[in-house]
Amino acid sequence: MTDNRNSEAAWNYHEATKHSYISIRTNPHFMGWSNQPLPFKIYPTIEPMRLPSDVRQSSVAALSAIAERVSPHLNAVPDLEAVAQLLYLSAGVTRKRKYPGGELYFRAAACTGALYEVELYLVCGGLTDLEAGVYHFAPAEFGLRRLRAGDYRGVLLEATGGEPAIARAPLTIVCTCTYWRNAWKYQARTYRHFGWDNGTLIANLLAVATALGLPAEVVCGFVDADVNRLLDVDPQREVAFSLVALGHVASPTSSSPVETSPLRLETVPLSQYEVDYPLMREMHAASSLDSAEEAEKWRSHSLMTDFPSPGGSVIHLAPLSDAGMPCDPVEQVIRRRGSTRKFARSPITLAQLSTMLDRATRGVPADFLAPPGAQLNDLYLIVHAVEGLQPGAYVLHRNRGVLECLKQGNFRADAGYLGLEQELPADAAVDIFFLADLRPILQGFGNRGYRAVQLEAGILGGKLYLGAYAQRLGATGLTFFDDDVTRFFSPHAEGKSAIFLVAVGHSAKHKS
Ligand SMILES: Cc1cc2nc3c(=O)[nH]c(=O)nc-3n(C[C@H](O)[C@H](O)[C@H](O)COP(=O)(O)O)c2cc1C
Repeated sequence: MTDNRNSEAAWNYHEATKHSYISIRTNPHFMGWSNQPLPFKIYPTIEPMRLPSDVRQSSVAALSAIAERVSPHLNAVPDLEAVAQLLYLSAGVTRKRKYPGGELYFRAAACTGALYEVELYLVCGGLTDLEAGVYHFAPAEFGLRRLRAGDYRGVLLEATGGEPAIARAPLTIVCTCTYWRNAWKYQARTYRHFGWDNGTLIANLLAVATALGLPAEVVCGFVDADVNRLLDVDPQREVAFSLVALGHVASPTSSSPVETSPLRLETVPLSQYEVDYPLMREMHAASSLDSAEEAEKWRSHSLMTDFPSPGGSVIHLAPLSDAGMPCDPVEQVIRRRGSTRKFARSPITLAQLSTMLDRATRGVPADFLAPPGAQLNDLYLIVHAVEGLQPGAYVLHRNRGVLECLKQGNFRADAGYLGLEQELPADAAVDIFFLADLRPILQGFGNRGYRAVQLEAGILGGKLYLGAYAQRLGATGLTFFDDDVTRFFSPHAEGKSAIFLVAVGHSAKHKS
């Protein structure tokens, strides 16, 4: 029995990091601008190898790419160009903006505070134009720094207790999260952001993998210390959070143990000093897995949730057909995505909302989601301006394709309050809240279920972003007053926890 089974740690962390009207006012936090962390991890002693910078345009519509997956058994191996495409469209610098204190580098996926605490590492066998090795992705230079030469995929296979997608993946991307880079602004709540920000990035990665014809799977069950050691990260500062297995080869990787000696590579300090928020490291330690057997057992859990049948009036979703939907390719949509800074209070259509909801919730390929199509988060909506829907509060019954009305009314002011007293959720056409019943999740998956539920929300939120932008709408992730959200959607949501929020509507800037 490891700490992971004692799910008190996740409960304690969740409770301690809730936002409320009072907590926001009694925790004045001032960001030290002169101590702002660097947005990039830099290894000054290793020259980066530049990646090809032409973005290939697939003909795969973003709305298909977010909804579909390539058969996990299709043999497919990415070449260097495909690797570049995957990295650029998930974590690359897509926009720059000058401000009086310097320059801001915006990246392909949305990220809380534009602080970009997620780093990507590649663990691959020999690919066309890329030798076997362990690499760090350097978005600033759009290059790769090789940390280890040789095939280390066996280390990941061992660490995941023989996960089948990892066994046959020519390439696995390891996503790490760096505490201080995000905690500088968000303090201990950062551990939730790890899931959100890693999730939006993975939403892009999965969509691009589909467009490139690559099978992909998200893997969260692994021996943390072994993966961290492979990447040579200092786990007090930076930790592996998720793996994404990409591609498929006929013969599995051998899991023979390979020596992963410390590299002791120099990295540029992020700030003059760092402030520690021990709660996050405690949460991470308590959700860590210690052995391959534990990792294998962890992923074999399947969550059977009991979603009550609709008790009130329902409205059927009316998504656009494949022939009728906008077909902008996924690369184009990712490049034009950017969080909406002001919404126009104009309506979207039921077809647009339905298309987004339907396409974003068709299932995430992940080791913690079985059977296929399972989902840990439930979607609750506050509708302000959707043609064909009365303003009000709704819950999505995913497998019935209907929205159940929980209460009718104009809730713009409530939504503004729930979204941390911001204008964005009050002005949007619809606010989509993710709530989860943490009890069965933590019972089944232990504390690590908390990582999974946050990550899943980030992935679905990232898909909603793309689903909105594919239809020329705007979207933004938002944070919220936890218990007030549950209260607002109760009694239906009684006992559930608020996990994530995305607002969608027409941008006030770009009238479409
Ligand atoms: C999970 C999440 C929560 C966010 N919360 C807020 C928020 O509360 N208020 C806000 O104005 N923007 C919020 N954002 C938007 C980020 O500030 C934005 O993603 C970041 O500045 C990067 O810009 P971009 O999305 O335009 O690329 C959030 C984004 C995410 C992914």
